[in-house]
Amino acid sequence: MFNTLSGRFLVLTIVFVMLAEIFIFIPSISRFRVEFLSARIERAQIASLALLADEMLSPELEEELLENTAVFNVVLRRNATRELVLTSELTQPVHDTFDLRSATTWDLISDALSRLADPRIRVIRVIGEPRLMGGSLIEVTLQTQDLRNAMINYGLRIFILSAVISAFTALLLFLAVRIVMVRPINRVIQHMKSYALSPEDARQIIQPNAKISELKEAEVALQTMHNQLTGALKQKHRLAQLGEAVSKLSHDLRNILSTVQLLSDRMESSQDPLVKSLAPKLITSVSRAVTLTESTLHFGKAQEPSPQIRQVELYQIVEDVIVNERMWVAGKNTIISSSVPRNMIVSADPDQLHRALSNLVRNARQAIDLQGTEGTINVSASQDAEMWLIDVVDTGLGLPKEARSHLFEPFRGSVRRGGIGLGLSISQELIRGHGGEINLLWSNAKGTKFQIKLPK
Ligand SMILES: Nc1ncnc2c1ncn2[C@@H]1O[C@H](COP(=O)(O)OP(=O)(O)OP(=O)(O)O)[C@@H](O)[C@H]1O
Ligand SMILES: [Mg+2]
Repeated sequence: MFNTLSGRFLVLTIVFVMLAEIFIFIPSISRFRVEFLSARIERAQIASLALLADEMLSPELEEELLENTAVFNVVLRRNATRELVLTSELTQPVHDTFDLRSATTWDLISDALSRLADPRIRVIRVIGEPRLMGGSLIEVTLQTQDLRNAMINYGLRIFILSAVISAFTALLLFLAVRIVMVRPINRVIQHMKSYALSPEDARQIIQPNAKISELKEAEVALQTMHNQLTGALKQKHRLAQLGEAVSKLSHDLRNILSTVQLLSDRMESSQDPLVKSLAPKLITSVSRAVTLTESTLHFGKAQEPSPQIRQVELYQIVEDVIVNERMWVAGKNTIISSSVPRNMIVSADPDQLHRALSNLVRNARQAIDLQGTEGTINVSASQDAEMWLIDVVDTGLGLPKEARSHLFEPFRGSVRRGGIGLGLSISQELIRGHGGEINLLWSNAKGTKFQIKLPK
């Protein structure tokens, strides 16, 4: 209940209304005290007027007058020379004197609060102005008990009233929040839930109709997002179907091509010189076609398995890659070297890192081959607090412009004859699986530098 929006509103409203009531209570309790005392003074003034008729009252009458007025003494100063005085015996000495004529608001408030706070019964003297110009000053002595009881009563009534008001306000606000906010929010939540169940179903997409502008904005944003998502899902679905079709096609094509490969091998032994001379070209083309279909099939096998990361010696992996690649440059002057520190240990899946590095080094070697002269390839490594950095630099002819725009996209990055355009995209996928990435640092007519970043 208190974790819901409307529940919170309920509690907060009660707290705030009560707080507001405290601010109202303080001045009004001081007002109440002044009025109580003024009423006593007024009654005392009337009682003392009996002295005007008869200067010597009988002690019984005097006592009765004072009892009715609920004070011990009254002194009414009529003018400079005349005073009317009613007296009876005090039960205890006068504890304090309050002059209502000169008290400031703050005095009145603090006197009222200290009266409330002090449960002891005291005798106090109160000085006030006589009513209707009946004299210049009037003074009464009285006990505090009645005053305090009346103040407590008054305070209780105010408290009950404010409790009722705040409960009522809170209830109204609670209902208002339910209707105005919680219901529309629930509607959005319901939509999100049912959308999540069947995101392809366009009917589940929310139609914005909230009246509160912030909520409406949220609904519109949600609608846009769902529309895009549904679109993307359909697209993905279509691509998946297409991919499946391509895989089947590649599969059958590979079988057909294998037969052609077999047959074209035989052509080499043909007696016909024309056939014999064409055979090698045919064989190369066919095997290229076979490689293409195989790679496509391989790529179609969806995701790479997630990497089995462990501590591996980078030096050893780079050495294996280089040894393999050197076989291709046998007899040429191209130099493939490594300057990876011997003791460098990295966290990676050794097979996957090997494949990614092989692709980079092979691309570099092919770029040098294309250039036609010899060149150098160097693999180096360094590290900082967060990353291992593995660099592959070559002196090949640089990346062709067309290759750059789709460098890491499958089947699109290749501009090389015989290239499929999968090498970099597969390598990128493998390294991303490690939480790292491959970047092209620079490339120009003098060469190219790729970098693998592996997080620690
Ligand atoms: N070191 C490099 N120097 C120059 N060009 C490069 C280099 N590395 C990649 N390229 C260019 O980027 C293209 C894409 O490379 P990628 O490895 O993705 O595909 P590919 O080598 O053409 O084919 P695959 O690797 O699938 O057999 C290459 O065709 C080549 O033109
Ligand atoms: Mg390649």
